[in-house]
Amino acid sequence: MGGRKPLIAGNWKMFGRRADLHEVSDTLKRAGAAGSAIDIVFCPPATLLREAAEAARAGGAQAGAQDVSPLGDGAHTGDLSAPMLTDAGAAYCIVGHSERRADHGETDAIVAAKAKAAAAAGLAPILCVGETLAERESGQALAVVERQLEASIPENAPHSLVIAYEPVWAIGTGRTPTAEDIAAMHRSIRGLLDARFGRHGAEMRVLYGGSVKPANAAEIFAVEHVDGALVGGASLKAADFAAIILAHPAAAR
Ligand code: PGA
Repeated sequence: MGGRKPLIAGNWKMFGRRADLHEVSDTLKRAGAAGSAIDIVFCPPATLLREAAEAARAGGAQAGAQDVSPLGDGAHTGDLSAPMLTDAGAAYCIVGHSERRADHGETDAIVAAKAKAAAAAGLAPILCVGETLAERESGQALAVVERQLEASIPENAPHSLVIAYEPVWAIGTGRTPTAEDIAAMHRSIRGLLDARFGRHGAEMRVLYGGSVKPANAAEIFAVEHVDGALVGGASLKAADFAAIILAHPAAAR
């Protein structure tokens, strides 16, 4: 683990109403003391960010946004700048999720600009990378992710940068890579961060994401170089999200 504090983040995607905010405090109640050993982050839709951030902080956790504009405040209808997200209580910001890369045509260059804008406003970017099924099956997974990392991590990235390895084919499908494949990918990512950022890179956390559930969380957390998880569907319900948090070995200490 190299002294890195585990991080488990929930990505609510385009789900959630105010009536669902109790899931934040319910998760933290169930997780109990695990919250002091593990950084827990809730990334609700922007409409719920302020209230989720307050509920998270009250329980010793933090909130994050799901996206950010690469630009500063200005005439950009519908977009949210990084300082706005900080102002709303966010401490983290997901950038480059494969759903945004696919739905909104986000390139590595755009993702790098978003990560840079987030970091400049004091947000820890959670930068997502991952291969498609075709890329995995043709043996290109490591090369694809290496290329994405090279092009989407901004220069002078802060040590608060988090990488989330999320194979596209594992997101929302119930399928996950084998422990060996996760280990190989995380070893490769760790090596790239160390090579590019040195000691600084050793502080950056690398999460696994894609169909993390209470039933498979312990096995995934046991994989070397996995510093935590980015959880989608299972983060919407306190019972499931808390069970995932409690499955982390650090929760028992
Ligand atoms: P999932 O999503 O856990 O629902 O597979 C993960 C993610 O997209 O971050």
